Amino acid sequence: MSNAISLSNVGHHFKMNKQKISLFDNLSMKISDKHSYAIVGPSGVGKSSLLLILAGLETPTSGSVSFEYNDKTLSNLQLRQKSGFIFQQFHLLPELDALNNIALPLKLKGDKLALDKALFWLKQVGLEYRSKHKPNELSGGEQQRVAIARAFVTEPSFVFADEPTGNLDEQTAIEITELMFSCCKVNNTGLIVVTHSQELSSRADYCYQMSKGKVNLVNNKLDSVTGVAV
Ligand SMILES: Nc1ncnc2c1ncn2[C@@H]1O[C@H](COP(=O)(O)OP(=O)(O)O)[C@@H](O)[C@H]1O
Ligand SMILES: [Mg+2]
Repeated sequence: MSNAISLSNVGHHFKMNKQKISLFDNLSMKISDKHSYAIVGPSGVGKSSLLLILAGLETPTSGSVSFEYNDKTLSNLQLRQKSGFIFQQFHLLPELDALNNIALPLKLKGDKLALDKALFWLKQVGLEYRSKHKPNELSGGEQQRVAIARAFVTEPSFVFADEPTGNLDEQTAIEITELMFSCCKVNNTGLIVVTHSQELSSRADYCYQMSKGKVNLVNNKLDSVTGVAV
């Protein structure tokens, strides 16, 4: 069964000092947890805002967001609980070691198996020999591996990644891209990734290009219209 996030006629704008910043209007799209999606486009066009709206973290100015899970419509809060996040700046807690950074989302939910599950994920991302290292004792690539493990440890339906390779060298970016896609495939997780990297966007099943006020599907590897309507 496929779970999906749908945007219907979504518009988003900000008002700053009487100035209106319009990002997009009447945007409709459907994201399935069976597929991977890239969102590309120039800086300031609204990619991060769209990602936050899809994840239920930001309410759009107009239109609606709905989350269908096992044939039920769930709330934005439930969508957030079924989502994992990966950021360009890693956003690990500096005072916690790698293992405890990964365990944190589970500990916050009171999961008694938090550390066991975190250790499993530390191994999945190839970092078991760095479990006691704090973020400042890890390379950028290693920090992003920890962040990937932290995103997947809660067994999310969707992982949202905002420029996850933006702070990494070319070779590390390729390794991190491989890791994210393989984790999604193995765990049946939908991936939505904002990126400037051609290497990364070309891996996604679908690629959306944002340009001023518009979102267009520019690549559809699956050659099917299922779940795609802009
Ligand atoms: N919370 C906010 N309040 C006001 N303006 C914002 C806010 N978030 C983003 N913006 C503005 O909206 C535009 C799009 O931002 P963003 O979604 O971060 O773009 P991108 O990720 O494509 O670079 C930018 O001009 C940015 O300054
Ligand atoms: Mg951004």
